[in-house]
Amino acid sequence: MPIELREVSYTYAPGTPYAAQALKKISLIVRDGEFVGIMGRTGCGKSTLIQLAAGLLTPSAGQVFLDGEDINERHFDRNRLRQKVGVVFQFPEIQLFETTVEKDTAFGLKYLDWSGEKKQAAVRRALEWMGFDFEAVRNRSPFGFSGGEKRRLAIAGVLAVMPKFLILDEPTAGLDPLSREAFLELLRKLHQGGMTVLMISHDADALAEYAGRIVILKEGMLFRDGPAAEVFSDQEGLKENGISAGQVREMTERLRRRGWEIPCGTIRYGQLLEEIAGRWPR
Ligand SMILES: Nc1ncnc2c1ncn2[C@@H]1O[C@H](COP(=O)(O)OP(=O)(O)OP(=O)(O)O)[C@@H](O)[C@H]1O
Ligand SMILES: [Mg+2]
Repeated sequence: MPIELREVSYTYAPGTPYAAQALKKISLIVRDGEFVGIMGRTGCGKSTLIQLAAGLLTPSAGQVFLDGEDINERHFDRNRLRQKVGVVFQFPEIQLFETTVEKDTAFGLKYLDWSGEKKQAAVRRALEWMGFDFEAVRNRSPFGFSGGEKRRLAIAGVLAVMPKFLILDEPTAGLDPLSREAFLELLRKLHQGGMTVLMISHDADALAEYAGRIVILKEGMLFRDGPAAEVFSDQEGLKENGISAGQVREMTERLRRRGWEIPCGTIRYGQLLEEIAGRWPR
């Protein structure tokens, strides 16, 4: 179920003095089973791009295809899009609105022809995945939680549907380190289970660890698109564009400058540890 953007451009408030062209002729295909990270400076168009990919905005020019079908065609079945593509917004807390956690998490299941038991099992599973005790939270108001907890609740609502394609906009911002770790591990599991993941993040170390491919936007255009090891190896290019390649890359570079021969593709924490441990006298 690939999503393809073909020469997509987007302008906010076109024809007004406030017109802002956020994306310029972006072409991008995300194929089944990929885990793609999107990076770029603030305001470069990342959120706009995923909203177009999820059909929440309509391109000013160009097309978006899901499984080869133009999602902005009049006859396209929008329900299919909602079931297949799950979106966690930049501030997912604003997605919460129901009176109880259980109802809120179940909201996306409304249009699915699943039995009541199957729906409840999906809600329980998603809440447990996000670190909640289902029985303890099910009847509470979603508004009586902290910011980070609300974020986890909102993500549970998206995961309950088990979309084939999961799009996330800075999902780990505002989570404490343990929740961040747990969430990234959950994403890894879902991805290994066959979910395609498209995730915006400024966290280069997380993307190096989990994403196989990195797309970088610059002023509304594609700046880089390639395997994570390749994109993160270009320290200079990233720095020029104001993007940090992460602490692991930083450390690798420093060690290199001191004469350590560390292979180019070293971008993950575990890889770097192996390199260092391998040189340590036993
Ligand atoms: N609702 C809007 N109305 C007008 N202009 C907008 C709107 N939303 C975004 N823009 C403009 O479009 C450009 C891209 O915005 P976008 O939100 O996609 O950036 P981003 O890469 O997600 O940034 P961030 O990292 O801060 O989330 C920006 O220059 C922004 O000013
Ligand atoms: Mg954004």
